[in-house]
Amino acid sequence: MIESIEKIRTTAIDKVAEATSSEELEKLRVQYLGKKGELTQVLRGMGKLPPEERPKVGQLANQVRQELEKALQEAKENLARRELAERLKSETIDVTLPGRPIRKGSRHPLYQILNEIKDIFIGLGFDVAEGPEVESDYYNFEALNLPKDHPARDMQDSFYITPDVLLRTHTSPVQARVMESRKPEIPIRIIAPGKVYRRDDDATHSPMFFQVEGLLIDKRVTFGDLKGTLMAFLKQMFGKEVGVRFRPSYFPFTEPSAEVDMSCVMCGGEGCRVCSQTGWLEILGCGMVHPRVLSMSGYDPQEVSGFAFGLGVDRVAMLKYGIDDLRMFYDNDLRFLRQF
Ligand code: DAH
Repeated sequence: MIESIEKIRTTAIDKVAEATSSEELEKLRVQYLGKKGELTQVLRGMGKLPPEERPKVGQLANQVRQELEKALQEAKENLARRELAERLKSETIDVTLPGRPIRKGSRHPLYQILNEIKDIFIGLGFDVAEGPEVESDYYNFEALNLPKDHPARDMQDSFYITPDVLLRTHTSPVQARVMESRKPEIPIRIIAPGKVYRRDDDATHSPMFFQVEGLLIDKRVTFGDLKGTLMAFLKQMFGKEVGVRFRPSYFPFTEPSAEVDMSCVMCGGEGCRVCSQTGWLEILGCGMVHPRVLSMSGYDPQEVSGFAFGLGVDRVAMLKYGIDDLRMFYDNDLRFLRQF
């Protein structure tokens, strides 16, 4: 009897030590300590022993039972701890992994320049006005002293939608719209930035491009005011280094008229394809508002005078960033755009 209890003790404890899951441990518990378990059976057979042996055997059996229960309990706890550790390990989320970067976009270089231009003119006291990109023949030409069949209409190859409606070829129609809506109020001091359209396409012309129109109407406005305003703008925009020249020109809506050129940054004035070998790049047209334009829009040319200008935003951007092909701005090539 004693031997079989000792045998149970060693084999059971070994098996418990080798068990690798809670289910195995439970099976072992049933196998040895269950109702029909091996140790239980042995204890049941105690009745057959001589009375003097019973206490000794009983004591040993109880001791083994306690050892076994303890071993089972410890093994169960160890297993649970290990199982938990393994689960934690396999389910760990490595929060130190870097996230997927969200690529930041940036404002298109033309809009950056446009904002700079706006800021400068707002600083000089101008408001920002707007007009439609699909424009009537009247505002795009007629109200600017360009009657039908006027040869100067040919300077602006245009996109017509109907014979009387076209994509505006310049921002100048906003001049007439603003005067008409504000008359007889003075002063008028506005800039009108926006897209314009012409049937042109080469290194310095794009079929869609940006202009900023300027208009100032007040009493006794002179060409000196025009020049002073534009020089103040150009100085803020480019600093002092870049050369500027005013050149007499012709526009039907101004008299006298001028064009403003800046020395070509691409060649430093030597002459290249960007400046058509002249060393200069035209950036704006300007002049004193033609009396007929004033009166058509409800202002008396005897009472007031004004100046106007139309600035090519794309040209300003080319000069400012040293870009030799304007079409880069419209290709949407990110390798180009990310540089700004
Ligand atoms: N509208 C002219 C153009 O697109 C530019 C221009 C010239 C605008 C003289 C003006 C101006 O306001 O006074 O070619």
